[in-house]
Amino acid sequence: MFKTIRSVVRLRRFEFNGTKRRLAKVGSVDDLRLLAKRRLPGGVFDYFDGAAEDELTKAENSNAFSKIELRPRVLVDVSKIDTSTTIMGQEVPFPIALSPTGFTRIAHPQGELAVARVAGAVNLPYTLSTLGTRSIEEVARVATGPLWYQLYVWKDRGLSRELVERARDNGYKAIMLTVDTPVFGRRERDVRRGFTLPPKIGLETFVDGVLHPKWTWDFVRSEPITFSAVAGQKSVDGSTAVTLSDYVNSQFDPTLSWTDLEWIREVSGLPLMLKGIQSVEDAKRATELGVDAIALSNHGGRQYDGAPAPIALLPRVVDAVGNSIEVLVDGGVRRGSDVVKACALGARAVMFGRPYLYGLGAGGEMGVRWALDHITSGVTRTMGLIGETSIRNLSTGVVTRVRD
Ligand SMILES: Cc1cc2nc3c(=O)[nH]c(=O)nc-3n(C[C@H](O)[C@H](O)[C@H](O)COP(=O)(O)O)c2cc1C
Repeated sequence: MFKTIRSVVRLRRFEFNGTKRRLAKVGSVDDLRLLAKRRLPGGVFDYFDGAAEDELTKAENSNAFSKIELRPRVLVDVSKIDTSTTIMGQEVPFPIALSPTGFTRIAHPQGELAVARVAGAVNLPYTLSTLGTRSIEEVARVATGPLWYQLYVWKDRGLSRELVERARDNGYKAIMLTVDTPVFGRRERDVRRGFTLPPKIGLETFVDGVLHPKWTWDFVRSEPITFSAVAGQKSVDGSTAVTLSDYVNSQFDPTLSWTDLEWIREVSGLPLMLKGIQSVEDAKRATELGVDAIALSNHGGRQYDGAPAPIALLPRVVDAVGNSIEVLVDGGVRRGSDVVKACALGARAVMFGRPYLYGLGAGGEMGVRWALDHITSGVTRTMGLIGETSIRNLSTGVVTRVRD
């Protein structure tokens, strides 16, 4: 009996690092989300996690992946699997880039720096948002991988020009113009909470802060959070609390149209990606205009309900545009198998936002690394399990059927 007990009792070494200890119990992005939920004040978590209206688009982004079935082949030598590809001319080890997310520092003081560092360590492109809380220059200093700059066009075109030029001069490799935000979506979790950026301290937020002492301590010790791209320009830098909706609707240019693309290309001289394409017609138009890449995206469901799920739209877009433009997909990617499904359906690469934000909220830079490791290792594992050895050569034959 003692022999049997001794054979199963192995005392695990106690992990003194609390973040490592917590992350060791995380198995999926859903678990990471729950850990972030526990560690962040409710308003902050809801800002990241929430979406527009009844959040149906957000839910469908993920559901649409679960309806796709893979068609595995067995007895294939999968000892060598090549997951590398190119995106807009850049060699990357996985068909993955990190979506831009604004106001990242409210999850963790390191914010965009932590995410850019982790992305750089695996040489995946990181996109800094116009609404970033670390400046173009700060992010460029820490990044070791490719950087892209996400542009919202301001009513003040001079400001837009200046941002694009700063990105170019600091070595950013592409401009990602977000085209799904002519007006701001109604994010009802934020509406209910009266959420502002930076958060205003009322009774409710005070209690929330007390219940999340680690976050609160980090928040009060770090320098004030502002929109770094326009730091110091008092009226627009976010140093006074604003709702994001008021901010976007008052500052960003709702007249932006196809004719502006040439101007952006001229100013930057960099490859251009349009993020937020949601129809075959617009995908074709972007192709005709010689745009380098498009990202099928509904902003993670944060703009309106009833938007097409990007992965469901992908086959029709690829049918229409073929190889004449690179097509990326973003929204609802939570596993490596989602990446494989998208590539099989013709995507050049995928992007994601919330998985790394959950990581940041759950465990700072280590949490971001967890999210990236989880998804990248899932790509290689899935390829092995379905008997495929090259991500570039995946074909639609790998996807059997789309369940209703
Ligand atoms: C908190 C948050 C902030 C975001 N901020 C921006 C932004 O500033 N610019 C932008 O183009 N997209 C922004 N997005 C959308 C993401 O780039 C991306 O499209 C979306 O997160 C993809 O869906 P996923 O979160 O399911 O991966 C944001 C998304 C979230 C969750």
